[in-house]
Amino acid sequence: MRVLVTGGAGYIGSVVSEQLVNDGHEVVIYDNLSKGHRGAVVEGARFVQGDLLEADQLRQTLNDNRIEAVIHMAASSLVGESVQEPSKYYHNNVVAGLVLLNAMRECQIKRIVFSSTAATYGEPEEQPIRETTPTNPTNTYGETKLAFEKAMHWFERAHGLRYASLRYFNAAGATEKCGEDHDPETHLIPITLQAAVGKRAHVEIYGDDYPTEDGTCIRDYIHVVDLARAHILALDVLSERSAIYNLGCGGDGYSVREVIETARRVTGKEIPVRLGPRRPGDPAVLIASSDQIRSELGWQPQFQDLGLIVESAWTWMRAHPDGYVNHG
Ligand code: UFG
Repeated sequence: MRVLVTGGAGYIGSVVSEQLVNDGHEVVIYDNLSKGHRGAVVEGARFVQGDLLEADQLRQTLNDNRIEAVIHMAASSLVGESVQEPSKYYHNNVVAGLVLLNAMRECQIKRIVFSSTAATYGEPEEQPIRETTPTNPTNTYGETKLAFEKAMHWFERAHGLRYASLRYFNAAGATEKCGEDHDPETHLIPITLQAAVGKRAHVEIYGDDYPTEDGTCIRDYIHVVDLARAHILALDVLSERSAIYNLGCGGDGYSVREVIETARRVTGKEIPVRLGPRRPGDPAVLIASSDQIRSELGWQPQFQDLGLIVESAWTWMRAHPDGYVNHG
């Protein structure tokens, strides 16, 4: 299939593109490089540096490459920033998304896979979280992702668009070539590994007074390759219907302290830790029920073990000590 990947030079986008290329799809990456990296553009994909708000360039890219489906991953995705700067999030996640939907409509492209988030649920009352758990975002990031899901729903009603919205839990890990290189880095696993190599003096634990066994927050970490495989399965389902799926590994999840312990074991480094206050807006536990995607699409995580996830991130970080800077 000929697929346009928006945000394909980002962390998850690069891995999705890599998997698509490996499977023999024709991939066009559309990314403005505001957060992505030229060096993260995978071999075998075509790269167009462009902004979604540039409707003419976008339409031309869709037409010239005879795109059949879009995987839409370009977005602003920092929870804290989204609360400080709601306008940026509405602009990048909703307004730009509508430009994309309109361009797809004009080019008669009817299939889209969308990177959504567990942040659409807010602080849910039930764990594990199902797709039927009420959505109630507590930040602008989650709110704007949900707004785009709803826009796709109404475009389906009016124009026959088919969409698969994938609500990610905590994406982590790396492939040999593609890994996590954010600025600023806010995610626990890369921060912990940066502390392991001495790039940070310590990892700060954001609160240990949560109602969990060791007092730290529990999350559902999913290997980025398992996440990427779900996008490819989701492309297929679009020939029949639209769908919304949670994407996490389920189980009991891992606490912040367990993640740090695992990183100590994998790296053999001490990793200094400091206890800090809670980070505003962090729910105590976020665990996905991914029963639906497992039973309907046959999705099965291959790298469920946190040790494997951390090890892959560690391998990538050692091979790319400056991230993508010196890699094209
Ligand atoms: N944490 C620390 N210290 C750090 C960084 C994180 O203790 O330096 C803790 C956080 O408080 C949280 C856990 O580690 O309990 C994981 O934090 P991350 O920032 O790695 O991930 P989040 O769970 O906050 O974020 C993820 C996705 C977001 C999504 C959110 C939904 O990355 O895109 O889940 O709540 F919005």
